[in-house]
Formats: sequence, C-alpha cells, structure tokens
Amino acid sequence: MGKKVLAVYYSQSGQLEQIIDHFTLPFVQSGATVEKLRVYPERAYPFPWTGRSFFSVMPDCVNQVPGKLQPFSFKESGYDLIIFGYQAWFLSPSIPSNTILMDPRFREIAKDTPVITITGARNMWLSAMEKIKPVLKSMDARLVGNIALVDRHHNFISFVTIFYWMFKAKKERFLNLFPVPGVSEQDILNTGHYGQAALPFLEKGNWQGFQEEMVKQGAVPVKYSLMFIESKARKIFKVWAGIISKRKKRDAWLVAFKYYLLIALFIAAPIILTVDAIFFKPFLSGRIKRQKQYYSGVN
Ligand SMILES: Cc1cc2nc3c(=O)[nH]c(=O)nc-3n(C[C@H](O)[C@H](O)[C@H](O)COP(=O)(O)O)c2cc1C
Repeated sequence: MGKKVLAVYYSQSGQLEQIIDHFTLPFVQSGATVEKLRVYPERAYPFPWTGRSFFSVMPDCVNQVPGKLQPFSFKESGYDLIIFGYQAWFLSPSIPSNTILMDPRFREIAKDTPVITITGARNMWLSAMEKIKPVLKSMDARLVGNIALVDRHHNFISFVTIFYWMFKAKKERFLNLFPVPGVSEQDILNTGHYGQAALPFLEKGNWQGFQEEMVKQGAVPVKYSLMFIESKARKIFKVWAGIISKRKKRDAWLVAFKYYLLIALFIAAPIILTVDAIFFKPFLSGRIKRQKQYYSGVN
C-alpha cells in the first residue's frame, strides 16, 4: 500500500508512544510509509513531577497557552492520514499537544487531511477532545476518528495510582495493594486491532463508517459519571485558571486549587452524583444517550 501516514505526538512516560506503536503496526505491515514523530518540549517537564510543578502547569493547560518544542520537521509535504496522539492534562490537551496544534507547519500539512486522534488518559479526556475539535476545524483538517484509552479502574483508585506514577515516575503498583496505574498492557496491545480495522479505510481513502466501527469495538468509552463530573469541572477549572493566571505569586493559589480538587473529587462529586442519580438521571435517559453518542462520535 503506497499510503503515507504521519503519527505525531508527545509522550512523557512513553505510554502514549506504546499506544501509537501498536496502533500503527498494521499500517507498517501493510507496506504503508509510517512516519512517527515524537515531539519534545524545549524544557522537559519534570518526571517524576513534584506537587508544585504538577499543579503549576494547570493555568496554561486550561487556557491553551502553547509552549516551546525542540526543533522538529515533517519529511513529507502531505499525508494520506495523520494520527494525532495527545494526552489530557487538567481536562485540556497537554501543553506539548496544544503546541503541536498551534504549529503553523502542522496546521499546513493537516489541511484537507483525514486525522485520527488517539489518547492515553487516566479517564477524563472528553473536555480535552472538545478543545481539540475546533482547533482541527480551524486548520481545515478532517477529523475522521477518535480513540480513547483509559485506566478502567474506579475513579478514586486511578486518582491515587496516577499520582503514585507521576510522583515516582514508576508505572508500578502502589504499596503492592493498588493496581498498576494508567492504561493496561492488554488495552495497549489491543490498539493493534483498531489499527487493523483502519486499514481498509486508509486503502480506500474513504473514512465513512470508521468511527462507528471504533465505537463498536469499544475504542471510545464514555461513562456517565465521568461525563457528568467533567461537565461541571471544566467550567470550574476555567475560573481557577483565569484567576491564577493573573497572579504574579501563584503558589498559594495553586495549593488552594489542589485542595479544591481533592475535596471536589472525594467529597463533592459523590454527593452530587448521588443527588443526580435520585432526582435527575432517571428522567434524562434520552438526553444522556444523545450526549454519549456525541462524545463517542467525531462531529
Ligand atoms: C499534569 C497532568 C495532568 C493530567 N490531567 C489529566 C486529566 O485531566 N484527565 C486524564 O484523564 N488524565 C490526566 N493526566 C494523565 C495523562 O493524560 C496521561 O495519561 C499520563 O500523563 C501518561 O501520558 P504520557 O504518555 O505522556 O506519559 C494528567 C497527567 C499530568 C502529568
């Protein structure tokens, strides 16, 4: 197959890189030319993170302020398919992902080109994707597919384990008690099936029906409780980011945000979800179904 595919992404721990590798393997095996471009920030984000460095990126993530990347270039002037790998940071595209999207050369090559977005998130990627959609549209890229790999454990569990992973830089079990953080090895391996399913679409150059196929294969999980939490949290994050980005001295505000996040997740969210489950959710099944369909689609 003489098709040209570009996969462009940032990955801090290498998890997203593994996902991209598995997704693109069937393309490589079919004879397509696959150019993988992992970008690196000019100044690497700390890994392991400290509490301070972790929360300090929140305002720029939420406000979608691009950063600086080490020099990179594309080998071709155009591609038959672009795979854009991104990760969510604070319910927004990570700063390096956002920087790729703002890069004039990327914007030029993505014009009129089919794009598949793929993420390896904890479990909250909907709002980040909602921010990516209009940016892709603004460069006349054609979003034809979206795949989301997540940590499938309970929201509380994955919250604890991701902090262990991020603050120790070890994708290992915390206290030998908690599960391995992040996207499971099995789900990462399974990404190869999604790549395999994409082959006939790439061959034909017609992506009609691809996203429906991904939904059928379980490649875009949308869970009601997480969708509900994100819909509230993204508005509140925006307010926090607006306030904090205006401050010269941010430390105390970032600490306040950290405690807000803990209280919101572990105390407020369960209460609000319980109230919602009793008084609202049972009467909104049609609306919830439409919302789920919307988030798992690409329109
Ligand atoms: C600063 C920061 C914020 C994050 N915020 C979110 C988030 O809002 N939602 C989510 O699902 N995952 C979040 N994650 C997890 C990432 O999306 C991603 O799964 C993890 O960082 C591994 O990606 P990697 O391939 O870059 O190592 C966050 C991670 C970092 C470092």
